[in-house]
Amino acid sequence: MKANQVKKLAQSISEFPTLPAIVARVIQELNNPYSSAADITDIISADPAMTFRILKMANSAYYGFPRSITTVTESIVLLGFSIVRNLMLTTLMYQFNEMTLPAHFKKSGKRNFVAVDRQEEWRHSVATAIATREIILQRHQEAWEHLGYLAGLMHDIGKSFFCHYMPDEYREVMLHAVQDNQALAKWEEEIIGADHGQVGAWIVDRWNLPKEIVEPIACHHCPKKAKTDKELTAILHVGDLLARKIRKPEAMAADWNRAEPWLEYLNLSEPQIREIEALVAKELSQIETFMAVD
Ligand SMILES: [Fe+2]
Ligand SMILES: [Fe+2]
Repeated sequence: MKANQVKKLAQSISEFPTLPAIVARVIQELNNPYSSAADITDIISADPAMTFRILKMANSAYYGFPRSITTVTESIVLLGFSIVRNLMLTTLMYQFNEMTLPAHFKKSGKRNFVAVDRQEEWRHSVATAIATREIILQRHQEAWEHLGYLAGLMHDIGKSFFCHYMPDEYREVMLHAVQDNQALAKWEEEIIGADHGQVGAWIVDRWNLPKEIVEPIACHHCPKKAKTDKELTAILHVGDLLARKIRKPEAMAADWNRAEPWLEYLNLSEPQIREIEALVAKELSQIETFMAVD
């Protein structure tokens, strides 16, 4: 990377908004093995929009509880701790993407002028989070469940960064790398000096998120480069490809071949992948209705 590119990137990353305090708190609770339903209830109850969403979720047809759920505590008991925590994270990151980032750039007078479909990018991040978590569950690594979801949700945050801080360079990258995700990382390296995985990892590190997700995010397009968290990196890589395949089956048919060595490495069979695909599609459509609350 050229010295002036490093300087520009480092300076821009230091300007990138910090994570809202509530997100940091949810993540802290998420990693605390002693956190209780009461702690989570306190956080949710302090936020009316969040309370509304959790209740809406608990009362949705998807879960089919026979009577109406009226309190956060009841929702946690019925939906389960893990579902509620993931929903909170998903909601908070959605708000961060939709409100904090645009407001921040408006205030700082920066342009955000790259034609990316933000909604589609968002759906992709959620699909990756679900797929990554499901791969982990298939492999009976329950202890990683939340890390996997978090890594999936955050893995492309570097793209948001490029769109906001380097719109001119990123437009050029996109012109070169239409539809080919592997080429995207290559062109980012070529034009900007780092790919969105590396930049995402710097951001996640700066936000003090769990160290275990830093390398997987950095290497999600090239898991071969991972040294310390190779397994979670491979899982995130497959989760990312699977999420793309679910959204764009035709466009991804060839791309999916890239997953093959990693499926072997992770000991994942075709029937397991099909099961995960079905689960992701189902949960994703549920989350879409859930997010369409505003
Ligand atoms: Fe990516
Ligand atoms: Fe991705």
